Amino acid sequence: MLKEPQADHNAVRHLHRDAALRDRARKVIPGGMWGHMNAVRLPAGMPQFFSRAKGTRLHDVDDNEYVDFMCAFGPMILGYADPDVDAAVAAQRGRMDIANGPGEVLVELAELMVETIPAADWAMFSKNGTDATTACVMIARAHAGRRKILVAEGAYHGSAPWCTPWPGGTTPEDRAHLIHYVYNDIASLEAAGAEAGDDLAGILASAFRHDARFDQELPTQAFANAARALADRQDAALILDDVRAGFRIDLGGSWQPLGVRPDLAAWSKALGNGYPIAAVTGTERLREAATKIFVTGSFWCGAGAMAAAVATISKLHRTNAVAHMTRLGGMLRTGLQAQADGLGVGLRQTGPASLPMVLFDDDPDFAKANLFVVTALQRGVYLHPWHNMFLSVAHSEDDIAIALKATQKALEAVAGAFPQAAAGRTETVDG
Ligand SMILES: Cc1ncc(COP(=O)(O)O)c(C=O)c1O
Repeated sequence: MLKEPQADHNAVRHLHRDAALRDRARKVIPGGMWGHMNAVRLPAGMPQFFSRAKGTRLHDVDDNEYVDFMCAFGPMILGYADPDVDAAVAAQRGRMDIANGPGEVLVELAELMVETIPAADWAMFSKNGTDATTACVMIARAHAGRRKILVAEGAYHGSAPWCTPWPGGTTPEDRAHLIHYVYNDIASLEAAGAEAGDDLAGILASAFRHDARFDQELPTQAFANAARALADRQDAALILDDVRAGFRIDLGGSWQPLGVRPDLAAWSKALGNGYPIAAVTGTERLREAATKIFVTGSFWCGAGAMAAAVATISKLHRTNAVAHMTRLGGMLRTGLQAQADGLGVGLRQTGPASLPMVLFDDDPDFAKANLFVVTALQRGVYLHPWHNMFLSVAHSEDDIAIALKATQKALEAVAGAFPQAAAGRTETVDG
């Protein structure tokens, strides 16, 4: 039985070292931190810096311990410092990591991905999700000899100039050939396809609608079918961005349960259980086009990260990973729902159970969400106020029990601070 985080009964957590590091960081790092891990956008009381992690337990630099439900924003699908993955990496690095060319493990990993993913006849590797989504777009354009890519409004596909969510430092030309549709809205998809006309190269879709700060939405069967049909009709590529959800819904790809096969798919995050690796997989039809683009990077052939991916995928198969994450995510969801119902707090839990999102009713500025998350944090559980969270194979029933003890207190805090919340309605939708 796992030990509860030690400060469970100590509602005040100190972040002295974290504060000192933030001061130092502000002097030598623009804004103190960049990108999605900038804790400035999180409520006060959440740490910026961390010191160690193992399994589901994460320690901040002040040595507060948390049961973590962010999994490093997705990569830690087997838990932090998984012994099998780490051993495979150490063994590979003992022989070779970066060299003048890839190791044998490149072929082994590509074979494993082709075996695991029904829509994959081949695979190519890089480092980050952005590398993979960008390569998918390039391959689609190389295949069709056309320019237009359909992209869902508000969807995140990475931080390259063509897709980064903030316009700073980009030009309108970077996005000139993107046409937007609304996820799950077939009419808008068809309209975007019509606008692209005979210049349509690709349709890019997330595994499901997982935009930060919004309720999540699983793809409808009709929408996935329509995207496939549009791509077929206009000889364009259907591109699935499985960077965030990959391996948490179905090891064969997140649209596998829908029976809809993408022509290209982008993977990263969970692929190497924290070691830096991304992949593009594709079907036979796109193989030739994939040879026509030039993409590479000094570190893309690191054999250690490839060994990590082989060990990760193998262990995901062995541990019946998706069923485990779905079951425990379901326990968390059901428990939270009962607590919210008992207190009359209106909240919405959306998306797949293995990638939970919790948002509160009547919470335009996320004040309730912030109070909820900070209260849980003080009781040793790390949640996120407006981004989807992640289950891992390492999560146990004990972890869920600890989380639910914390969420009970956190929901009581919300009910107390926002009495009108108690009149709200609670709702759970999707898987
Ligand atoms: C759906 C999706 N696509 C692409 C990316 C970009 O991945 P990376 O941050 O590794 O470049 C992300 C990252 O969060 C993502 O969630």
